[in-house]
Amino acid sequence: MDLLPADLSIRADCARVEQRLQSPNAVDLLVNNAGIGARGMFLDSDLAAEEEMLAVNVAAVMRLTHAVLPGLIGRGRGGIINVSSMAGFIPTGTGASYAATKAWVTLFSESLSMTVAGTGVRITAVCPGYTRTEFHYLIRDEPVDVPRRLCLRAATVAQAALAGNRRGRVLSVPGRTYRAAALASRLVPRPLLRVASARVAGR
Ligand SMILES: NC(=O)c1ccc[n+]([C@@H]2O[C@H](COP(=O)([O-])OP(=O)(O)OC[C@H]3O[C@@H](n4cnc5c(N)ncnc54)[C@H](OP(=O)(O)O)[C@@H]3O)[C@@H](O)[C@H]2O)c1
Repeated sequence: MDLLPADLSIRADCARVEQRLQSPNAVDLLVNNAGIGARGMFLDSDLAAEEEMLAVNVAAVMRLTHAVLPGLIGRGRGGIINVSSMAGFIPTGTGASYAATKAWVTLFSESLSMTVAGTGVRITAVCPGYTRTEFHYLIRDEPVDVPRRLCLRAATVAQAALAGNRRGRVLSVPGRTYRAAALASRLVPRPLLRVASARVAGR
């Protein structure tokens, strides 16, 4: 299949990808990986950049999923992996709207997995923590000080996502520490979670 370069923040480009995904037997597995991070605090950020982030992190995921799903359901097989984030589990004062886009991706994936139950189509949200990629340099211009044991490799995240989807897992959180944090984020009362998140951000 030919490559199809597209800027997913542009509606017309996204529509070309949707059209490709609607063609018969286009794909067995859609991976919604494209994502943009937030630069700094919401109040200081450029509104156009915020809108671009929403277009790529949310609207494109929704549109491409909508395009591919009927074909997958019709064939009774295949899957969708949505690359979400640990950020979607935890409220944060920095990058507030990024966290919100990822919370959307996770809940969308979980909810959609219920919609497609019994069709043979598997939906997985993969929720990585800190992963060594260009991502952090693009939003900060400087190296991020993250303890080594918390750094994931992109290959580890990709393998966990693929294995999770093959096994029909709706949520995949790579790495033991992050799995514990994800569980804690669901058990700890929200006010306490906000305090802990602010402490970690201010360290
Ligand atoms: N790195 C982390 O710590 C981390 C943690 C949790 C979740 N994530 C998520 O993981 C996913 C992949 O990010 P990454 O860490 O690999 O960061 P990255 O190195 O910055 O890669 C981002 C990817 O998104 C694509 N992209 C960005 N804007 C786009 C647009 N307007 N149209 C089409 N594609 C666009 C980029 O394409 P080009 O290369 O062509 O620009 C690139 O493939 C994202 O959804 C991110 O939110 C990352």
